Amino acid sequence: MFYKVLTSLIAIPFFFISAQTEQRGFIGTSACGMCHKTEKQGSQLSIWQGSKHSQAYFTLQTEESDKIAMDRGFKTKAVETPECLKCHASGYNVDAKLLADKFKIEDGVQCETCHGAGQDYKSKKVMENREEAIANGMIVHENLESFCIGCHNAESPTYVEFNLEEMWAKIKHSVPKE
Ligand code: HEC
Ligand code: HEC
Ligand code: HEC
Ligand code: HEC
Repeated sequence: MFYKVLTSLIAIPFFFISAQTEQRGFIGTSACGMCHKTEKQGSQLSIWQGSKHSQAYFTLQTEESDKIAMDRGFKTKAVETPECLKCHASGYNVDAKLLADKFKIEDGVQCETCHGAGQDYKSKKVMENREEAIANGMIVHENLESFCIGCHNAESPTYVEFNLEEMWAKIKHSVPKE
């Protein structure tokens, strides 16, 4: 227990420092999904595919979205507007060199949107060691609510009040307990 507390105290500040000083590469949902798709692992890939997060980019390609963007005074199509993309996609604002071939902006709100760019933590050896994964850019969330409302807030033009319990139940993708 003491060891766990101690390492998490070290890992957290280290993460913040490294996140600020280096930009990490994105590997794409299909690459995460290689190891996170069986029932035993927790079916994260199919749960995400069935969620609205996987559709968030396509939503911006609709007429409804273009109208919302226009009404807000934006001159570009919704899907080209950074003020929409910031909650509906990842990777649109980073150097293309950081995006692996398999990375798809069309995947919208994807694994790495919520867990951090995975290039440096994706190896099996790092992933199996939680502290090491965090030190290499993996983001886990102690406080779900404050994380979710980073996007689920009134700045969203179609905001509906956010109920954590209900909403988490729709996207929950935990590793099954042994
Ligand atoms: C080579 C296989 C592999 C790849 C690729 C991989 N993971 Fe993992 N991941 C694991 C293993 C093994 C664990 C340990 C827990 C478990 O058994 O699921 C894990 C754990 C995790 C955890 C849980 C951390 C915790 O303790 O709370 C998260 C979150 C995670 N991975 C996200 C990702 C994301 C996002 C990607 C893509 C950027 C990714 N993983 C790619 C194998 C992998
Ligand atoms: C990066 C921004 C972002 C974060 C962080 C985020 N979401 Fe979302 N979420 C969205 C967007 C955008 C949509 C709308 C997607 C669409 O319909 O095209 C959405 C939609 C949803 C939906 C579908 C809504 C419905 O009525 O069925 C659920 C459920 C959801 N989010 C749950 C969560 C939960 C729980 C968290 C926190 C663990 C979270 N989201 C964090 C951006 C985000
Ligand atoms: C909308 C944000 C969001 C998206 C998208 C998302 N996750 Fe998560 N994920 C979370 C949150 C929040 C948790 C629970 C707290 C934590 O461990 O960070 C979690 C937990 C996990 C865990 C650990 C579960 C456990 O029981 O320890 C794994 C593994 C994981 N996610 C993998 C993935 C993979 C793979 C994808 C893409 C297919 C993905 N996640 C997409 C937010 C997200
Ligand atoms: C602060 C984050 C945020 C921003 C900025 C944002 N959205 Fe969203 N968007 C969301 C979330 C979260 C949802 C899910 C429902 C909600 O609004 O609570 C959503 C849902 C939507 C939906 C409804 C999808 C459905 O299934 O009904 C449309 C359309 C949409 N957004 C378009 C846009 C457009 C266009 C812009 C830019 C002008 C934009 N959004 C900017 C977070 C955001």
